[in-house]
Amino acid sequence: MLKVFRGELLHFLADPAKVPLEESYQYFEDGLLLIKNGIVEQVGDAADLLPTLDESVKVTHYRSGLIMPGFIDTHVHYPQTEMIASYGEQLLEWLENYTFPFEQQFSDFEHGKSVAEFFLTQLLAAGTTTALVFGTVHKESVDAFFTIAQQKKLRMICGKVLMDQNCPDYLSDTAQSGYDESKALIEKWHNKDRLQYAITPRFAPTCSKEQLDKAGQLLNENPSVYLHTHLSENQAEIAWVKELYPENDGYLDVYDKSKLLGRRSVFAHGVHLHDRECQRLGESHSAIAFCPSSNLFLGSGLFNLQQAQKFNVNVSYGTDIGAGTTFSMLSTLNEAYKTQQLRSEKLDPFQSFYLATLGGARALDLEGVIGNFSQGAEADFIVLDYNATPLIERRMRHCTNVSEKLFILSMIGDERHIKSTYIMGEKVVGL
Ligand code: GUN
Ligand code: ZN
Repeated sequence: MLKVFRGELLHFLADPAKVPLEESYQYFEDGLLLIKNGIVEQVGDAADLLPTLDESVKVTHYRSGLIMPGFIDTHVHYPQTEMIASYGEQLLEWLENYTFPFEQQFSDFEHGKSVAEFFLTQLLAAGTTTALVFGTVHKESVDAFFTIAQQKKLRMICGKVLMDQNCPDYLSDTAQSGYDESKALIEKWHNKDRLQYAITPRFAPTCSKEQLDKAGQLLNENPSVYLHTHLSENQAEIAWVKELYPENDGYLDVYDKSKLLGRRSVFAHGVHLHDRECQRLGESHSAIAFCPSSNLFLGSGLFNLQQAQKFNVNVSYGTDIGAGTTFSMLSTLNEAYKTQQLRSEKLDPFQSFYLATLGGARALDLEGVIGNFSQGAEADFIVLDYNATPLIERRMRHCTNVSEKLFILSMIGDERHIKSTYIMGEKVVGL
């Protein structure tokens, strides 16, 4: 069945940091998006495409808004939803005092389903249509998440946490049980409908060498699954990894020696990386999830986007709930801009919206599937609202171009500015 949407429309074709800006995106002041059976058929100027349509086709027309692909959140913890805004600590104390005790509850499948339902509703309300998601160490947490995501027909990636040391007994698996349970979850969920699995070692301090090696073995046995972990977020964490792994040439090398780098590997944070580590990430086609609200909340540091770009590392955004303080990708763009201001660097609005859409798809090795309106892509998209509040409505009156509009949306926008969210061409949020 054909569905047609009309309005101001933007999507990316390339990274604005790598090609001339005009070649990186397509913008239609009055555009048309044609969707057939949930898949993008065509995008273009309304003036060109309208005459080709049968007169009986119904057109949904959005005035005063911007149609764009759904946002992609490449690092977030669904079990930490209800512990967002826990006061006063940096990473290691925050994990010990708040996170570990909190994650204990997710041995309960019903509890996991209830939180997953709320979490996914929040994501969709914020315009995020795909996410790479941490579960907890309990396999039930992943069963619960995928059960709800499948009901909602979402493209979601999740995995059971692996951790067998330096954590409470009640959250500990073993190298063998972690491998076995992850393998069973891959068989049960990977590539079922739109769901995909991520092997998820928490981070080097909570994983033995044996566990990381087994994760590498499992990845090698299942090359289409993801690898999702944390990397170089905080100075005390990095010093701890040095103590635990004195033989290795830095933090990334611990993962590298266990064969965890690759096109489907996503490392959250990477705030304090050496050039040689960025080079390895780039040449192995691995990705970094830049999580600005989390990095500011935990006082972790200011991500060096220019360094990552210099070494051709795929970068995308993560909200990192519950160290991150917002589900909103627009608010995440706001925080990202400010981290770059503090580094005396400019973060252009086109670059930022690229990272939130096509950049996310590339980090997840899903270009052509999600992230833009290329023909054949899954039609997950959103409508941003220029009139959501009296303030933005007044501010937009002074805008002369789309770059300014994007910047304003990213500075003062949040969930209120998501007018609608569509999944495979079906409206799930809004008007
Ligand atoms: N490093 C290891 N575990 C975590 C976590 O849950 N959140 C963040 N932000 N960093 C981590
Ligand atoms: Zn995290």
